[in-house]
Amino acid sequence: MRVCPTVCALRSARSLLSGSAAPRCDLWRLHLNKTCPYSTSNEQAPQYSMLRHLTSKIKATGPISVAEYMREVLTNPVSGYYVRNDMLGAEGDFITSPEISQIFGELLGIWCISEWMAAGRPKTLQLVEFGPGRGSLASDILRVFSQLKTVLSGAEVSVHLVEVSPKLSQVQAQCLTGDQSQVATSEDDPAYRSGITSNGLPISWYRTISDVPKGFSIFLAHEFFDALPIHKFQKTEKGWREVMVDIDPDAVDKLRFVLLPSPTLASAALIQANEKRQHVEVCPDGGIVVQHLANRIAEQGGAALIADYGHDGTKTDTFRGFRGHKLHDVLADPGAADLTADVDFSYLRQVAGNMVACKGPVSQRVFLKNMGIDTRLQVLLRNCTDPSTRAQLIQGYDMLVNPQKMGERFQFLTLLHHRRLATPEEGEGMKRRRGPAPLPVAGFSELRLK
Ligand SMILES: C[S@@+](CC[C@H](N)C(=O)[O-])C[C@H]1O[C@@H](n2cnc3c(N)ncnc32)[C@H](O)[C@@H]1O
Repeated sequence: MRVCPTVCALRSARSLLSGSAAPRCDLWRLHLNKTCPYSTSNEQAPQYSMLRHLTSKIKATGPISVAEYMREVLTNPVSGYYVRNDMLGAEGDFITSPEISQIFGELLGIWCISEWMAAGRPKTLQLVEFGPGRGSLASDILRVFSQLKTVLSGAEVSVHLVEVSPKLSQVQAQCLTGDQSQVATSEDDPAYRSGITSNGLPISWYRTISDVPKGFSIFLAHEFFDALPIHKFQKTEKGWREVMVDIDPDAVDKLRFVLLPSPTLASAALIQANEKRQHVEVCPDGGIVVQHLANRIAEQGGAALIADYGHDGTKTDTFRGFRGHKLHDVLADPGAADLTADVDFSYLRQVAGNMVACKGPVSQRVFLKNMGIDTRLQVLLRNCTDPSTRAQLIQGYDMLVNPQKMGERFQFLTLLHHRRLATPEEGEGMKRRRGPAPLPVAGFSELRLK
């Protein structure tokens, strides 16, 4: 847990200075058809059992889709990568913005409060985070909630985390509640863990969004959508064909990509008629989450902020693996490395349709600068005399906003209730007139950047 803002800023700035930790987006991309042998010298049982599980499955029912491969490797309830690992940070496989600087979470905390205020300060506020990793983002946001508790007074605030990994849920519980959380005793309980945060708010953990209680919510998803399974399709002379994962006939314990000779249900359903690219990745699981979000926001009010590395329907082969902060062949040692694909924001917007209003995506640099990252950095620097801490704060800032680092590759999209952007009408009958323009959406307004 944090002791003070300045010390807290060190958590990953420290790792950036001392180690080789690099954000996942900073590394180059693998070629799709590259395969890599499973290392028989690898003694780690979970990866080996994952490979065995996958090859048995393929032997029994034939090649599996990339989506099925990704789902098994990442979230298989016994040996999935996310299910049994704490993979974040300098000693892990990758590092993320909330781990790099406390300022990131603080500005998102301000964003949550500003959207709650713009919605007319509803009586309840549910903070819902998808895939909270180590809990660092939620922890920074809750510190802001504590500091601005007079602003939030009158609202019943609760915290809801959607997390597939029992291992990470423990790490999050420790970070956010200390020892103040318990695992549910009944399988029927929609929350599998619950407790009280260090600043006294009720907090619960769920496996899916459908389990989260209804109510006005601010939803956050940082580096969550990129971890959801994608289907991959290749355009051929005969039309679109799905890329599958198969056993390499030339080597035992080796996987390879193959193209199916005929269309699949997925290739028929998921490719747009006007698609111009030769290779496409589609994430229907991401579409389902966005549908839930859009429905909930339309029915109960609230907003969602989705932040991830991504594109607007222009990129092709972005599927890649990370292990120890280095690119890793996606088919090698399944379960030993993180798998990820860039988020197609145009697809998410399309799925959200007219149910909600969408703004963005805007780059992380634009979002954070509009949210006041420069001012926040100056305040922290003013209160800090230690030269190495100052250097780390500046380095973390640079990592977040520098266009060559995370500034341009990471994008922010928000889903809002239509009411949020509408100009209200005031008065009655003939005296009705347009009310004041809606407040700008923080982070997304058109501010000029220095
Ligand atoms: C790349 S990590 C990002 C962690 C954190 N948001 C951050 O930025 O530091 C992905 C997170 O999503 C969780 N996750 C992955 N797939 C999930 C799924 N299908 N349902 C719920 N959580 C999932 C992982 O366990 C992990 O907490």
